[in-house]
Amino acid sequence: MLNGTSIREYINEKKREIVLGRLANRDFQSFFTENSQPLQTLFTYSECAMLEVETKFRVLNEQFTLAYDHSPIESIKTRLKSLESLIEKVHRYQVPLTLESIQKNINDIAGVRVVCSFPDDIYSLADCFLEQDDITLIDRKDYIQHPKESGYRSLHLIVSVPIFLEHEKRDMKVEVQLRTIAMDFWASLEHKIRYKQDLPEGVAAELYDELLECAQISADLDMRMQSIRKRLDEKISPLAH
Ligand code: GTP
Ligand code: MG
Repeated sequence: MLNGTSIREYINEKKREIVLGRLANRDFQSFFTENSQPLQTLFTYSECAMLEVETKFRVLNEQFTLAYDHSPIESIKTRLKSLESLIEKVHRYQVPLTLESIQKNINDIAGVRVVCSFPDDIYSLADCFLEQDDITLIDRKDYIQHPKESGYRSLHLIVSVPIFLEHEKRDMKVEVQLRTIAMDFWASLEHKIRYKQDLPEGVAAELYDELLECAQISADLDMRMQSIRKRLDEKISPLAH
């Protein structure tokens, strides 16, 4: 038996299938059939690059902990783009339907999200990561210094990292999102609310305004927590030396 929520979820799922069905027209279907092997390779190599990047952050976390007795990373999440999200993006950006153009234009097939304790940790980690001689920065968007209109904050890096295969080395792209726990908390809830499609327009506008206010509150909270940590460090370090 389906209850109210399950029925709504079921209808939304069907709506999404219809939209995707429209997007995944014959061109898409023949493209995916003809390129299934190279696409599989692209996804697998992207996954390898994602693992490389994840390991680099785990190593940095260990070293920071050793050096400063403080772990800058709370958690790391990785995700590979789903095929349906790739189709949606190719469609939205009007990317030509070839393997080369997908590789050139879609930067986030591999995604690594690094959730940090304090805003300062984000910049320290990003600097150390980007200093590594096998990492090439392709794009950097600082939505912490310049939040999005929605209120969204995070530091985004698009990088290329080599992966070492049987007989060759391949550079693959990875999107890294660095954020604090507060930024992550806000973004997760905002994402849930924004994708509730059945909200009346007035209600949606009101909620977005309130979400923007919450983003400001979460930014203030980050700053206060960081300042508490600084004060604590200042109190502790004279004793430690
Ligand atoms: P996409 O086409 O969505 O990938 O945007 P883009 O290529 O211009 O990249 P951008 O740096 O703007 O954002 C990429 C990712 O950041 C998204 O896939 C989300 O994970 C996250 N993001 C960006 N803006 C928002 C936002 O307003 N709210 C939330 N919750 N997440 C966001
Ligand atoms: Mg993206």
